[in-house]
Amino acid sequence: MDERHPARHRLPLPHRGIAFGGDYNPEQWPRQTWAEDVRLMQEAGVDLVAVNVFGWAEIERSPGDYDFADLDEVMDLLHAHGVHANLGTGTSTPPPWLTAAHPETLPVARDGGVISPGGRQAWCPSSPVMREHALRLTGEVARHYADHPALALWHVSNELGCHNALCFCDVSAQAFRRWLADRYETVEALNTAWGTAFWSQRYGSFDEVLPPRRNASATNPTQELDFRRFSSDELLSWYDAEAAVLRERSDVPVTTNFMVTAHIRTQDYWTWAGHMDVVANDHYVDHRLADPHAEVAFAADVTRGLAAGNPWMLMETSTGAVNWQHRNLAKAPGELERTLVTHVARGADAVCFFQWRASRAGAERFHSALLPHAGTDSTGWETTLRVGRLLDALDEVAGTRVEAEVALLFDWQAWWACDEDGHPSSDVRYLDEVHAMHAALRRQGVVVDVVRPGADLSAYRLVVVPTLFLVDDTTASAVEAHVAAGGRALITYLSGIVDEHDHVRTGGYPGAFRTLLGVHVDEFLPLDAGEEVRLDDGTVATLWTERVRPRGARVHARFTGGPSDGGAAVTRHRHGRGAAWYVATRFDEPGRDRLVGEVLADAGVAPILPDAPRTVDVVRRVADEASYVFVVNHGTSDYLAPVAGTELTRGRRARLHRVAAGGLAVVRQEPLPTDDKEDAA
Ligand code: GLA
Repeated sequence: MDERHPARHRLPLPHRGIAFGGDYNPEQWPRQTWAEDVRLMQEAGVDLVAVNVFGWAEIERSPGDYDFADLDEVMDLLHAHGVHANLGTGTSTPPPWLTAAHPETLPVARDGGVISPGGRQAWCPSSPVMREHALRLTGEVARHYADHPALALWHVSNELGCHNALCFCDVSAQAFRRWLADRYETVEALNTAWGTAFWSQRYGSFDEVLPPRRNASATNPTQELDFRRFSSDELLSWYDAEAAVLRERSDVPVTTNFMVTAHIRTQDYWTWAGHMDVVANDHYVDHRLADPHAEVAFAADVTRGLAAGNPWMLMETSTGAVNWQHRNLAKAPGELERTLVTHVARGADAVCFFQWRASRAGAERFHSALLPHAGTDSTGWETTLRVGRLLDALDEVAGTRVEAEVALLFDWQAWWACDEDGHPSSDVRYLDEVHAMHAALRRQGVVVDVVRPGADLSAYRLVVVPTLFLVDDTTASAVEAHVAAGGRALITYLSGIVDEHDHVRTGGYPGAFRTLLGVHVDEFLPLDAGEEVRLDDGTVATLWTERVRPRGARVHARFTGGPSDGGAAVTRHRHGRGAAWYVATRFDEPGRDRLVGEVLADAGVAPILPDAPRTVDVVRRVADEASYVFVVNHGTSDYLAPVAGTELTRGRRARLHRVAAGGLAVVRQEPLPTDDKEDAA
């Protein structure tokens, strides 16, 4: 198969094109409302709703007493109206009777405080009591609905680990010890991995080990890292346990909703992704970020990476404001469409919202919804109808794959390790550098595949490795092999510093990449708050410098001033048939854009539309028989996109398409005769 023109790969859902839907919580409403709900869903083209996400307390009013009558009615109504169900196992939040009877299931915070029920997800991921109750409920739900004609997808729990990812209770401590014994086999191996010769921490047996609870000084970094690995594995095993119960009774695909976002980092989704029948993400525009739409694109690219390049599902997003930011901004005109098309452009073949009908009661009553408090006589409802039409128009792209020549190596474990305390500068935050590099590539009009550590990089011309603090030998070798074979690498400061045990790689930084980069760094020289240094090419750098001694690399730019005055700041090293670039500081945006442009040229990567301004996002999705160019204009001027073909949202065929400021175009590429009338209307 030609990699660049793959066959279509469809989500295993009973949908023709792009699925459209939302979370539906009918238990919050009187029965009369349900008939109106399904009628309006039909009107809007909603064809997939998540139900029973928080249904436990409704279904199991007292221990073992299951009552599905209401949910039956809802499922039947959905089916009668052509709406499929993304059916929750309902285990996300236990009912009050359960936590009252079993307070030992409540999670415990780092400082020892017990987390009370009253919100949601107040359970310890390692609690056998909670697991037993949850699996019993899962079994009942599976038995009851396995053959229901509305069922399209099983939805395990909800956003596993959103609030309870790290639990420090005694039950978790025991589970942590078991996990460590599995990983290390002997306590001596644990001692070596954790470096317990430091500060008199040597363990005599696994029984002495604790989670990294609040202590008198600083925590052992490897203990902290392993506890995060354990905690991610613990919730994955929870998912697996529920999925196994479902799969015993049903062939319908199983998933749960990931949280690939800027503010949650508790799960290592690289280890989770292979367990999902459909990779699904929840993503909300975060107006607290400096460039919220760059982050939308990044999260979508990560999710596609988790789906191994195949289409994925946007399980939740919002039509308008959320209710959990400090100031919950409405979306600007066109912003919702641009956001959704960004997700679709980057591989989403299902677009669903939280939630269908805005709640009247409860903590999320001021969160936007497809059907707002005002009802159908509202701008919100008009928006919903418009979204339905937009997604309909894009149906034919379903199953196509995104084309990318650049890979960005991203790792949750490196994120955990990089952002620990006790580092040379706590201003270095892993995600800042990852976001900055991804955004710079996007501004150059280049599409990026986000890849896991150790991934085969042979399909890419360039691999970008931003601040990959922790790296194992396999991953470092994969980057080296990519360059040796003729590829390019761009690696930024504080990469390759520690191994998988969080131990420093000695003999000169950046340890794992020293030979590949042809440099030897003998001291970190971070900058003070607000301090800037200049490079001899005019770039302004902040945050970080270091003393770089070239060992075969050519110096591309030098520091002028600052603690590394006169030293190398950017280097390029020929290695095998390729070359590796190193950046030893944090660039300002213009400097980063310039450098990324040079590296792309060096790698032979050209933008899809070279004349597109930096504020216009361009992505191509292809299949063996078709190719679609997505153009999303975040800027304030119109852009004429030179893509011959039919624009799907307006149905116009032309060689040039006007993409209004704040607007978008999705063009099915078609060979058009040159004398065909140009349509830039
Ligand atoms: C998450 C949850 C939903 C809801 C939304 C609100 O995505 O899964 O239940 O709380 O956030 O934005």
